[in-house]
Amino acid sequence: MKLVLMGLPGAGKGTQAEKIVEKYNIPHISTGDMFRAAMKMNTDLGVEAKSYIDKGNLVPDEVTNGIVRERLAENDAKNGFLLDGFPRTVEQAKALEQILSDLGTELDAVININVDKDILVKRLAGRWICPTCGKTYHEIYNPPKTQGICDEDGSELYQREDDKKETVENRLNVNLKQTEPLLNFYKETGKLHNINGEQEIDDVFCDVEKILASF
Ligand code: AP5
Ligand code: MG
Repeated sequence: MKLVLMGLPGAGKGTQAEKIVEKYNIPHISTGDMFRAAMKMNTDLGVEAKSYIDKGNLVPDEVTNGIVRERLAENDAKNGFLLDGFPRTVEQAKALEQILSDLGTELDAVININVDKDILVKRLAGRWICPTCGKTYHEIYNPPKTQGICDEDGSELYQREDDKKETVENRLNVNLKQTEPLLNFYKETGKLHNINGEQEIDDVFCDVEKILASF
């Protein structure tokens, strides 16, 4: 299964991705996670990405397309993958078509998670993440058993730098601007599936499963 998961910041891409990759046993490829890993290691890519991410802007297409091309060429992505947060621009979508065509394959489906902007702001403000396993929590909607501690491995949870109020507004606006043309691009391919992301986490996943059942 070759999938793209779309949605504005906080829509629940990472939350649903955790469930999808577990059930369908495909690698989770999140450009945001890749950039954050590079930032943590202070690599050239990380330093460049940080200058955009900290302001809530998009990392330039050439850079992002390059890391996705490399990642999709790896062995574990041969039989399927879940792209989370890529593509985000029509340019990236076109680059992805080219990358997949070079690999002799194509996408099966694009799932877009719809959530209203006001809800997104609340979700991002209350998000907590495990630095060890990457599991995502929300202090109200999806709390850990013990406040501030990961259920899986007991690590202390942290909040993302770009979830600060000042950054969130720009991040949402930047992504909103790109979303409409990207959705139109995928509508034309006939592969776009829209789901309501304003339901409970498990109900959103039920809708995802219904779509994926046909593949
Ligand atoms: P990225 O890491 O992809 O961030 P994002 O797109 O802003 O999305 P988020 O990870 O913030 O949200 P999510 O949809 O994964 O939501 P989550 O499941 O965590 O990218 C970061 C940055 O990297 C970008 O801003 C950009 O600078 C750069 N970048 C990345 N990809 C790029 C690209 N392709 N091109 C250029 N630049 C790129 O959920 C959020 C919260 O809500 C959690 O607390 C969760 O528990 C809760 N929640 C989830 N679902 C529900 C629900 N149904 N009900 C209630 N609460 C819920
Ligand atoms: Mg995410």
